[in-house]
Amino acid sequence: MIRYSKPPVLLHDVIEEIGSVVRLLEHNAPYTPLGGWYRPDADPDAPTFPMWFQNDWVHADLRVPGAELFLFHERVMQAARDFYDAQVIVPHSVYVNLMAALAKSGPAHTDNPRFHGRDRSNTPMWLLRTMFWSGLFDHYAIVQATSIWWMNDVEGGGFMYWPDGPDKPPREHVGTMANTALVGDNHGMFHQVGPVGPFDQGTRLVTPRAEFAPTPDRSGDWAITDHGTVRYQAPLDQCRVSVLWKADVYRNEQEQRQQMANTLSIPDVARIFDRDLEQRGTDVRFDLDHLEDPGLIAAVSAVYPEATPIDKAPSIFDAA
Ligand SMILES: [Fe+2]
Repeated sequence: MIRYSKPPVLLHDVIEEIGSVVRLLEHNAPYTPLGGWYRPDADPDAPTFPMWFQNDWVHADLRVPGAELFLFHERVMQAARDFYDAQVIVPHSVYVNLMAALAKSGPAHTDNPRFHGRDRSNTPMWLLRTMFWSGLFDHYAIVQATSIWWMNDVEGGGFMYWPDGPDKPPREHVGTMANTALVGDNHGMFHQVGPVGPFDQGTRLVTPRAEFAPTPDRSGDWAITDHGTVRYQAPLDQCRVSVLWKADVYRNEQEQRQQMANTLSIPDVARIFDRDLEQRGTDVRFDLDHLEDPGLIAAVSAVYPEATPIDKAPSIFDAA
């Protein structure tokens, strides 16, 4: 049984001095197209990527200088403590999205789940997601708080979210978004980035080698350069800039110790699924040697389908 999260908390006036964020953005340029690294088969010379750029500022093996501004933001940390009624907040990720000229929305989705012992480094993503939607592994789930902070107000660029579950209408954070943050559960709550202007030329596409960076003249403009040619140039404040933060959440240190010591192996996962599949009276069973087999993926996913949120907007990533 999936329990949907309560509505996220909106914070205002989150960053005291926006210039410090602009400097962080500049120091960590250039930015590369979202998904470029896990679409290794994409033609490096074909313009198939929207102008949705991303960089990591903090993950397990990285912390760029200055990222503490977001990583240990006290009001965001406190909002997460309050949201989950939890004492232990362990921030682990900060990353940045820069977007322009997306005529349609991003995908409506929940963020990828992690479990103690199982994450994308050792488990196929379809299996992690099916584990989440099955509800069979809630006891092992790593609860993660998310904050999304927006730097500026642009044309479009709203944020749709489904705080009452996927079968209830979404709400939208749009219009006055500059220096606000939404803190909540993006792993349990569907959400979707709305279309981002400028809209005069539809969704503009770039190749996976495109880079987004400040222009050399230090004018404050940023430019997307693709195969040596400037494809787009605008002041930074006309680009949708958002900074995402994620933290692991534990009710207290005792619970943290217990949960971290209680990890799942792949045979554990198969055993728990198989027991439930048997109780459901289906013949589907796990085959540990063929976890990427399309037939197995389809059969298991059909038993534990993902929800589809109502009123979701068409996505730039929908099949044509
Ligand atoms: Fe997300």
